[in-house]
Amino acid sequence: MPHFIALNVARQWALRKTFILASYRQSRTMSTLLINQPKYSWLKELGLKEENDGVYNGTWGGKGEVVTSYCPANNEPIARVRQATMAEYEETVQKAKEAWKIWADIPAPKRGEIVRQIGDALRKQIKVLGSLVSLEMGKIYVEGVGEVQEYVDVCDYAVGLSRMIGGPVLPSERPGHALIEQWNPVGLVGIITAFNFPVAVYGWNNAIALICGNVCLWKGAPTTPLTSVAVTKIVAGVLEQNNLPGAICSMTCGGADIGEALAKDERVGLVSFTGSTHVGKKVSLMVQERFGRQLLELGGNNAIIVFEDADLNLVVPSAVFAAVGTAGQRCTTTRRLMLHESVHNDVVERIAKAYKQIRIGDPWDPNTLYGPLHTKQAVEQYKQALDQAKQQGGTIVYGGKVMDRPGNYVEPTIITGLTHDAPIVQTETFVPILYVLKFKNEEEAFAWNNEVKQGLSSSIFTKDMGRVFRWLGPKGSDCGIVNVNIPTSGAEIGGAFGGEKHTGGGRESGSDSWKQYMRRSTCTINYSKDLPLAQGIKFE
Ligand code: UN1
Repeated sequence: MPHFIALNVARQWALRKTFILASYRQSRTMSTLLINQPKYSWLKELGLKEENDGVYNGTWGGKGEVVTSYCPANNEPIARVRQATMAEYEETVQKAKEAWKIWADIPAPKRGEIVRQIGDALRKQIKVLGSLVSLEMGKIYVEGVGEVQEYVDVCDYAVGLSRMIGGPVLPSERPGHALIEQWNPVGLVGIITAFNFPVAVYGWNNAIALICGNVCLWKGAPTTPLTSVAVTKIVAGVLEQNNLPGAICSMTCGGADIGEALAKDERVGLVSFTGSTHVGKKVSLMVQERFGRQLLELGGNNAIIVFEDADLNLVVPSAVFAAVGTAGQRCTTTRRLMLHESVHNDVVERIAKAYKQIRIGDPWDPNTLYGPLHTKQAVEQYKQALDQAKQQGGTIVYGGKVMDRPGNYVEPTIITGLTHDAPIVQTETFVPILYVLKFKNEEEAFAWNNEVKQGLSSSIFTKDMGRVFRWLGPKGSDCGIVNVNIPTSGAEIGGAFGGEKHTGGGRESGSDSWKQYMRRSTCTINYSKDLPLAQGIKFE
């Protein structure tokens, strides 16, 4: 056969094979969606179907790409979501801006009442929504429920805040003048969230943004669209029952195209982005280009430092929870465990023993402590990080293998012997690999804590009060979250959450984070009949 005919035949065969495979996959997907199996019929309690609308702006839609959501524990398809087109994005922004005109006129405590109702609606579905998070994200059931609890908690917090936010009345240097600070909403808040906290992070932003008088437009992670849809259905239910425009809490499911549109859109008063430092930087530059306002929650490379006087009964469960919990996929996960040389071997031995007892299994099984990674790509990243760690001189003392079972399971891993400045130690890999480092003194340990690019969370374990206050002070941890005798992860909603340097500098949730969702006006009102000028200037 002449060469070109052979090639043509081969190409035709290849095409045919692709077609056969594609139709096989499609028919398989249609027949085996988990939502159609009796075991998962509870998904319907959340209003989910085989194919779901991925756009909400008072009405539901979705004319864009259809994405299938897969379960990380077995890589089976759960259900599908129709994402937003750019035309739908445009329509949604317009509707949200219209809705703002109504929402901004509602007194803050009344907005708080709506947020209270959202919290209550979430409470009613906390178990079923937590189960969906577990099924779709892959975290264990209690953590899925815990995430919904965080949204409930921040709703409660926001209700109180709705009667407390405000600015001071400041002393004016001019007679007959009042100097007051007025806070107003920024308008439309664009919220881009990550796969690892598909409920809580939206909740922190949504509850606070709402009481401040903003409307929200949410783009969740493309791999957790069912959770975005289910949450939006709950929130929309509350708005609709109160005869409020649904576009107050809009959603456009999508990928980078929607993210980019939000970042570049001058109508978006604040872009709140949670995700990797890599993508966050791109978003940040686009927002900065238009002098927009942004709130960034990016990567972490968090350390626990264990001093010679530490209570090791606290250290071991803390390190295990923070390194292994959520399969190492929290931005607050402990990635570096710094051990004083006097306790190094003892702690490594105890932690490795604890790792052996971690119950690995289906995330929704109440007995399980450790589930799969979210995607197959994450499994590849795990393998690459292990190779690099070995090349750079690391020794695997526990784990180190992809597990031979369906789903994206890898062994939680402990690596010793690397230097504090090894490139892999300085890198955030979003998988359960813990690098153990050996240090000699406080100065060295604090310096190592601060030498990474990220600045999210950090913990020391000690009983020395002087050391505790040095750790909290100017020469201590440079992170946004600075802990003592507790793990790096598991922050409460009452504090401001976020970090410095390449973590992005944003603060969400508690304390005075609400200020980021508002703009401040400094207002001077002359109630006299004279016009004295500041700084005593005479202009006559
Ligand atoms: C995140 O990983 O993106 O401190 C947020 C914690 C959680 C929040 C983590 N409350 O672990």
